[in-house]
Amino acid sequence: MTDQYAVMGNPISHSKSPYIHTLFAQQSQQDLEYSAIEVPLNGFSQAVKSFTATQGRGLNITVPFKQEAWKLVDTHSERAIRAQAVNTIIVNSDNSLTGDNTDGLGMLADISRNHSINIQGLDVLVIGAGGAVRGVLEPLIKTNPKSITIVNRTITRAQELASNFSDLATISVIEFEQLANETPYDLVINGTSASLAGELPPLPDQLLTPGACCYDMMYSDQQTIFVQWALTHGATTALDGLGMLVEQAAESFQLWRGIRPNTASVISALR
Ligand code: ATR
Repeated sequence: MTDQYAVMGNPISHSKSPYIHTLFAQQSQQDLEYSAIEVPLNGFSQAVKSFTATQGRGLNITVPFKQEAWKLVDTHSERAIRAQAVNTIIVNSDNSLTGDNTDGLGMLADISRNHSINIQGLDVLVIGAGGAVRGVLEPLIKTNPKSITIVNRTITRAQELASNFSDLATISVIEFEQLANETPYDLVINGTSASLAGELPPLPDQLLTPGACCYDMMYSDQQTIFVQWALTHGATTALDGLGMLVEQAAESFQLWRGIRPNTASVISALR
């Protein structure tokens, strides 16, 4: 029987993951099927159990189940432990589950490899302190930026996040109102879900250094509101999260199949 893979979430109908993984499988001649499964909000562990009982070999997990997946799996990669969230499940030969998180590597691959931006030595501002940001902080720290600052609407969440990572780096935490008094940033990453609601976090006009890069972890078929803001406030590069989506998928695919797919052709196909 063909190996089965799937993405689980709710809602899931707009997920691009089946398309992405089907292209990866074609290009690397892997015999697998990848589907999207909409899981009832109270039915995640049951859905995973049914999946593994029917030749399921691996899963991607998306909103709102990443933290539940983290609790469900038997073993974790180090980066999943750090992120406290799992976006990739590997079903082992004894049907035990290993949880991993490829979101951070995906974002860094898109920024550093696809767009040739060297983060080392940059002043970086991260907007948001939810699950999405938690997933990318460790690989971001490892790129050796000059500084990392987190700004969040709920300051206590940002403080907690900074303290969770304090063994790896000193992360400054500030309120939106303070942003106007800060030195401008070279790289600004939007990790809030505000874009999805068509909302923009309250950013001052003088936020960016000349030539700055802005990265929205969200994507949509149109330019996101944060990307629009960036382009009208001096950013030289303003990217949405489509490349991150494909890159995190490629990391998952490699974990499952041991093959690193070519991402550039898939990103072009999606655009
Ligand atoms: P995710 O897993 O997608 O990160 P989350 O954990 O609910 O989801 O976090 C959402 C993030 O977006 C949070 O940082 C949230 O700010 P709060 O912690 O203050 O709630 C942020 N966010 C959502 N809508 C926002 C808005 N309109 N303006 C600013 N920040 C927003």
